[in-house]
Amino acid sequence: MNTKSQYQDSSRLKSRIQIHKLYSINKYGWQKWVFDHLKFPAKSRILEIGCGNGILWRENHKQIKNEIELYLSDISIGMIQDCKINLRDLKETFLFTVCDARNIPFKNNIFNSVIANHMLFHTDDLDKTLSEIKRIIKPDGYLYAATNGKNHMKELNELTQFFFPDFKTGEVTKSFTLENGKDKLRKYFSNIEIHYYKDYLVINKAKPLVDYILSTVDEVDRSIEVEITNYIQGKIYSEGVIKISKESGMFEAF
Ligand SMILES: C[S@@+](CC[C@H](N)C(=O)[O-])C[C@H]1O[C@@H](n2cnc3c(N)ncnc32)[C@H](O)[C@@H]1O
Repeated sequence: MNTKSQYQDSSRLKSRIQIHKLYSINKYGWQKWVFDHLKFPAKSRILEIGCGNGILWRENHKQIKNEIELYLSDISIGMIQDCKINLRDLKETFLFTVCDARNIPFKNNIFNSVIANHMLFHTDDLDKTLSEIKRIIKPDGYLYAATNGKNHMKELNELTQFFFPDFKTGEVTKSFTLENGKDKLRKYFSNIEIHYYKDYLVINKAKPLVDYILSTVDEVDRSIEVEITNYIQGKIYSEGVIKISKESGMFEAF
């Protein structure tokens, strides 16, 4: 996966978010669950890095207290543009920055919390990124970092691999997973907790699966779309539904 082309704007990310929204068994909702775990002391200053299209704030803005100063950042200009559009009708104020998490343009010890959801595995230098995060968090502050386990969406990865043999399962997330994340965080934080979100997908239509598969591979010859659709439709016809495992959770480090 080429991170730059994947996140030029939020279109590919959106199609992946969509499948979870429509077909997840756990109806509580991932973003709401994430928000429930965030601790916001009064007059907090919060930074989200790799904020994507700002969905965390779109879905939880009603819970944001007035005194919170919110900074949203991402390495992709297109993503920040889409994020601004996505949040523009909200009354809350968001401060946007385009920056690489390996080099965060803020002073030391100024944030009560940093949120880095499903993005730490993308940075080329995880150690530098974590040291930057630690530098800008106040001594009593928190890092929240969501990621996936190594078997996340394993049935869908197997399907993708069937059509794109070069696709390597777990390749994208392997540097920071639910299994190895604690070891990576230990150098910077003495207390680390993991919260697990229980869920799986049940899908009875081919299109969302085809869209998801095509969103994860970089240069796609669209002629393969029909072949994938027919294959998945056949599977749904014989099995009724396709069940996809999920393994997601969030580290809370302080
Ligand atoms: C899988 S998306 C997650 C978006 C959002 N956090 C969410 O949970 O919906 C990963 C995001 O991280 C951003 N990203 C990747 N590498 C980055 C880096 N080195 N610094 C900052 N952002 C980065 C991408 O542009 C993308 O928006």
